[in-house]
Amino acid sequence: MELTDRVVIVTGGGSGIGAAMCRRFATESPRAIVVADLDGVAAAAVADQIRARAAASVRVVARALDVAEESQIGAIVAETHLEHGAVDLFCSNAGIATGMGVEAPDEVWEQIWHVNVMAHVYAARALLGNWLAGGEGHLLVTASAAGLLTNLGDAPYSVTKHAAVALAEWLSVTYGDRGLHVSCLCPQGVRTPLLFGADGASGVDSGLAAEVVKAQRVIEPEEVADTVVAALADDRFLILPRPEVADYERARAGDRERWLGAMRRLQARITGG
Ligand SMILES: NC(=O)c1ccc[n+]([C@@H]2O[C@H](COP(=O)([O-])OP(=O)(O)OC[C@H]3O[C@@H](n4cnc5c(N)ncnc54)[C@H](O)[C@@H]3O)[C@@H](O)[C@H]2O)c1
Repeated sequence: MELTDRVVIVTGGGSGIGAAMCRRFATESPRAIVVADLDGVAAAAVADQIRARAAASVRVVARALDVAEESQIGAIVAETHLEHGAVDLFCSNAGIATGMGVEAPDEVWEQIWHVNVMAHVYAARALLGNWLAGGEGHLLVTASAAGLLTNLGDAPYSVTKHAAVALAEWLSVTYGDRGLHVSCLCPQGVRTPLLFGADGASGVDSGLAAEVVKAQRVIEPEEVADTVVAALADDRFLILPRPEVADYERARAGDRERWLGAMRRLQARITGG
């Protein structure tokens, strides 16, 4: 998909990878970009920043949105359609981490399930009707390398990101021959507040998850956005800003026992155990 004259919505657009995608998309002369985030002030700041640099023809709007609420996703899709035309690309990107294990309270599991999984279901429900009727639409799901592998120190994150990958694959298999293009973005170790906190310290509060963050090779959100634009142009399903993740996934699939052992050793090394 080329982004010229397209109508795009990005959730989690107020920060990190979402903000970088909005900024990068704006350089491709889309018709409209909707920067949507739970933090409406952050979304507005990103929209202002883009407006100051983008061509005058690019319409940029900011919207406060909680992706955990299906009605809010339906409303933003309908409103965007009315104001700018049919949505061409929906980037279901907002996500949260917990830094917790199975002991995480049920409310934490519920919340991350809604944000990291159900939000993609809600987006698909809101968009599929029009997309299948028109014969074209593009959904980008931001999952994670954790959805292909695991995330040491964060059980709810690992589980929900695996679910997000599974959903993206299911949608692609089910509707790919009817005009639905699905992309599944699986970054690893990106310098954003999710990992490093707003102040650059770890954004997750468990010792292990924080140590994993520090042990990683880290890339910038702008690199992720560049990779996304190239992958959209090639209509690729799996988007890996760090290509070595494909080797890790192959190693996991090729010999699960060996891979689990290697992950346990990595965990022991990081925790000093
Ligand atoms: N940073 C990484 O290393 C990394 C790696 C793999 C995957 N990811 C994924 O990338 C996506 C973006 O994360 P990021 O690293 O840019 O983090 P970030 O914290 O910088 O940005 C996430 C944004 O999502 C918003 N958000 C959170 N809950 C929301 C909700 N209920 N409704 C609407 N918006 C909400 C936040 O306000 C924030 O602006 C997430 O899905 C994350 O899991 C990040």
